[in-house]
Amino acid sequence: MTEPSPAAASQVPEARLATMHDGRRIAVRQAGSGVPVVLLHGFPLDHSMWDGQWGLVAPGGWLDGVARLIVPDLAGFGGSDGPTSSSIAAMADEVVAMLDAIECREPVVACGLSMGGYVVQHLAVRHPARLCGLVLVDTKLEADTPEARAGRVDLSERVGRLGAGLAAEAMVPRLLARGPGPDRRSIEARLRGTIERTAVATIQTALEALGDRPDMTAAAARFSLPTLLVVGAEDMITPPECLERAAALIRRAQLETIPGCGHMTPMEDPAAFNARLASFLGERVVTASPERPREAP
Ligand code: MLT
Repeated sequence: MTEPSPAAASQVPEARLATMHDGRRIAVRQAGSGVPVVLLHGFPLDHSMWDGQWGLVAPGGWLDGVARLIVPDLAGFGGSDGPTSSSIAAMADEVVAMLDAIECREPVVACGLSMGGYVVQHLAVRHPARLCGLVLVDTKLEADTPEARAGRVDLSERVGRLGAGLAAEAMVPRLLARGPGPDRRSIEARLRGTIERTAVATIQTALEALGDRPDMTAAAARFSLPTLLVVGAEDMITPPECLERAAALIRRAQLETIPGCGHMTPMEDPAAFNARLASFLGERVVTASPERPREAP
C-alpha cells in the first residue's frame, strides 16, 4: 500500500443532490471505484468530518481502484433537505433510499461514527442484503441510560431557546482527546462551525431519535458480516469499554484502538484510521464473504 499524497487528501468532491422516493434531496459526495463504502457522520455533524478519508481513493491512495466512497449528509444535516428522520431506524431506511436514488444496488460496506454507527447497526438488522461489511467507529450498542436521556431533553430545550451555538458549546469540548494534538485547534474550529450551521429543528429531532434508540446488544450478537470496530483510546463519549463489549459479542469483529484520539478518530488521526479501514477492506471484505445474509424475498 502506498501513502495517499497530501494534495490528493485535500480534494473533497462536489456534492450531488440525490432525490429520495419521498422527495427529500440528500447531498452526496462520491469518489473512487470498487466496493461501495458509505461513510455516515455523527451528531450534529455532516460529511465534512470525513474530509480526511478522500485521499484513500485518490490516485495512488490505499484504496485506489478498490473502493468507492459514498458520503451523504443525513436528512436535515449539511446540504440535505429536512425534515430529519425521526428515529435511527428511519435514518437507516433513508440511507437505503439514498443508495437507490444514486442507483447503487450492490452490497455496501456501511461505516458510521457514533450516531452514524447506530444507523449502521439498524442497517444490519433492517437491510442485511444491502451490506457486505460493517465498520462501527466511536459508537456503542447500548441504549441511553435515563440520565443520558434526560440530558438530551435538557440540551434540546436549551438549543430551542439559545440556538445551535449552545450545542457546539456543550459538545465540542468532549469530542477530542485531551492534550494539544497537532491539529486540535483547527479540528475544534471545523466542528464548531459545522454544529453552528445545523438547524435547530434538526438538532432537536436527532436528539429525540438518539434518546429513543433501542438497545442493540441482542441484535448485534446475530451480526454475521465482517465487522471492524474502531475507537479512540481517549473517547469520553463512547469509551473503549463500549467497543470492547461489542467486539466480544459480534462474531466476526476486529477491534482497533487508536492512541491519542478521542471521539473523532477519523479527524484526529486520519492516517491511523485510514490504515485500519484499508486493511479491513483489503483483507476481509474485498475477498469473498461466504456468510453474507440474504433478505427473505
Ligand atoms: C455522536 O457523536 O453522534 C453523538 O455523540 C452520539 C450520541 O450522543 O449518542
